[in-house]
Amino acid sequence: MRGMDKLQDVIELLKKYNQEHIIEFMNTLDEKEKENLENQILQIDFHQLLELYDNTKKKVEIKENKIEEIKYIDKQKMGNSKKEQLENLANDIIATGKYAVVTMAGGQGTRLEHTGPKGTFKLDVYGKGKYLFEILTDNLKEANKKYSVTIPWYIMTSEENHENTLDFLEKHNYFGYDKNYVMLFKQGELPLLTLDGKLMIGKNKLIKLASDGNGGTFASLRLSGALADMKERGIKWVFIGGVDNVLLKMVDPILLGFAIEKNVKIASKSIVKANPHEKVGVFCNMNGHPKVIEYSELPEKMAEEVDKDGELKYGESHIMCNLFTIDAIEEISKQPLIYHSAKKKIPYIDINGKEVIPNEPNAYKFEAFIFDAFTFFDDIAILRGKREEDFAPVKNKEGVDSPKTAKELYEKYWG
Ligand code: UD1
Repeated sequence: MRGMDKLQDVIELLKKYNQEHIIEFMNTLDEKEKENLENQILQIDFHQLLELYDNTKKKVEIKENKIEEIKYIDKQKMGNSKKEQLENLANDIIATGKYAVVTMAGGQGTRLEHTGPKGTFKLDVYGKGKYLFEILTDNLKEANKKYSVTIPWYIMTSEENHENTLDFLEKHNYFGYDKNYVMLFKQGELPLLTLDGKLMIGKNKLIKLASDGNGGTFASLRLSGALADMKERGIKWVFIGGVDNVLLKMVDPILLGFAIEKNVKIASKSIVKANPHEKVGVFCNMNGHPKVIEYSELPEKMAEEVDKDGELKYGESHIMCNLFTIDAIEEISKQPLIYHSAKKKIPYIDINGKEVIPNEPNAYKFEAFIFDAFTFFDDIAILRGKREEDFAPVKNKEGVDSPKTAKELYEKYWG
């Protein structure tokens, strides 16, 4: 009887939210498959999904808001005594084990055409090559040596790449990093929807889900127990960065010192945008709060606007080099972030069980962005760094931000 009740609940839910095609598909399944699908459906927040779908029909209106340039300080223009003062502020935190690092590595490197987790991509440097995870480890090991500590390292994976990431790191013995200081945690997922708002079925005969974006980091830190682990270790500041920038400085005492001096809960390093259309998010101040506008949502006019000195008005680029107090993370992890939608080409199974591979974008993917959390705060410390020292991303197979450009920048930096 219980099974029947469950089935009835599922059917009602699917009908209520216009997903009758799934009922039809369920009739083609055996008992076990049906049960798995039912259990999955009961986990879905249909109300939220409907809202996300409705939002895809609304235009993002940036103009209605009061937008100003962001304030920053330029590391290059800072005198040595100032730098020393900031470093001293940071030393107290880092050398006493109160600093942790999070790497967001839920992505798959699709644009790079790399099969497997992005961190397992090998960049052809110095003949032998180095994996992206290895480059990050090098950076942390260098800081550990400088401060005589071992910085706890939290790596966010996704449902899709968790096992492969774990196997890879185990196989390479965490590139010599003390395993007791490395914790992997998984990010969340959301269903994909067709352009008509319908759920899709995957090869595994379940609803198709996808990672919910790097904004999910905060909630996942809390839900996985990583945040509690940080608290137990006495962590006060947490760096959160991406996996794909081979010049990323995860432990920059000037950035930390600046945040402490400014008495803010969040900080970020920026660099000057290479050109108005570079694919980076840009900082601004919106309605009195710090904000990043993603490249995909930045109106053309704003992208090209210059100030009286001829510099791009919104030219402070977000390079995924962000710092938060532990309290800020706790606070953000309990609030919902907005979701952005993007149209993607998603293969699926039709109700007859046949795989369909689309030629055109056929589905919405919903993602929260890490930087939307900035708007919860009144102020941020922005430190302008330098492209040659801070930013060499590996994003595309060829052209800009490719392994070729990253290799050049990496080898030039390291000499
Ligand atoms: C990202 C930033 C952009 C910034 C640029 C700099 C976002 C939304 N955009 O753009 O503002 O200028 O980097 O390089 O952050 N990731 C996950 N899980 C996910 C999605 C992404 O862990 O669900 C991780 C990726 O592994 C990667 C990072 O987040 O480390 C960036 O994600 P990606 O989708 O590559 O963002 P970009 O479009 O490059």
